[in-house]
Amino acid sequence: MAGRKAIIIKSKEEIDRIRVASKIVGYILKLLDDVIQPGITTKDIEGVAEDVIKKEGATSAFKNYKGYPAILCASINNEVVHGIPSKKKVLRDGDIISVDIGVVYNGFIGDAAKTYPVGKVVERTNRLLMVTEEALYKGIEMAKENNRVSDISHSIQSYVERRGYSVVRAFVGHGVGKDLHEEPQVPNYGLPNKGPRLKNGMVLAIEPMVNEGRYDVVVLKDGWTAVTKDNSLSAHFEHTVAIMNGKAEILTKYD
Ligand code: MF3
Ligand code: CO
Repeated sequence: MAGRKAIIIKSKEEIDRIRVASKIVGYILKLLDDVIQPGITTKDIEGVAEDVIKKEGATSAFKNYKGYPAILCASINNEVVHGIPSKKKVLRDGDIISVDIGVVYNGFIGDAAKTYPVGKVVERTNRLLMVTEEALYKGIEMAKENNRVSDISHSIQSYVERRGYSVVRAFVGHGVGKDLHEEPQVPNYGLPNKGPRLKNGMVLAIEPMVNEGRYDVVVLKDGWTAVTKDNSLSAHFEHTVAIMNGKAEILTKYD
């Protein structure tokens, strides 16, 4: 889809502000490595993030965004994205859980997601997580000056499909800055060498969602939770990256 608005080029100072917001996101995603275990609820995960966000003097970029009711998204197994945290959603050994967090600090946003194994998952599930994370890094490698947006898309899609999985079409990555969703859209599929040319100062949230089965998704009656149509497992990894000195710098790093 062609964007209607211009892509906002950020100054060094603006990128520094996005970096601060992104560091908070990365810190929470790292913290969750030790929090996520069988028996906790997705509401507990939200609570951990909420404490950090408050302590840092930041706010959630998701809460009230188009009416979204929570500070993060927590999507279990066949849920693709936008799962709403709930006390009733208890994690079980062998599940996977995708956590997506956006934080606003000083007017600028960082956005990232990670899919975690709960307890011990089977080897086949682990492979889905590894391939999805690696697909994100394949996309990030292509986020460099003078490439075009769909070079990112194409490298993600080919990496994923060569390994027998599908990439979700219904949701895409995006520019990020003062707003959570800015131009350009960054699909996770498509032919190379299409769309806007990438420039220094662009900040992108790249976020492949990968299904074990087919790519189709359905949104549940809560108006948010997207699940795979065939009920297959789905994983999601996302980083906010800034194009600087010709190549992508990952701002939401958690290692
Ligand atoms: N990371 C997702 C995105 O960039 C999360 C949006 S959830 C919402 O689209 F609640 F804020 F919509
Ligand atoms: Co995003």
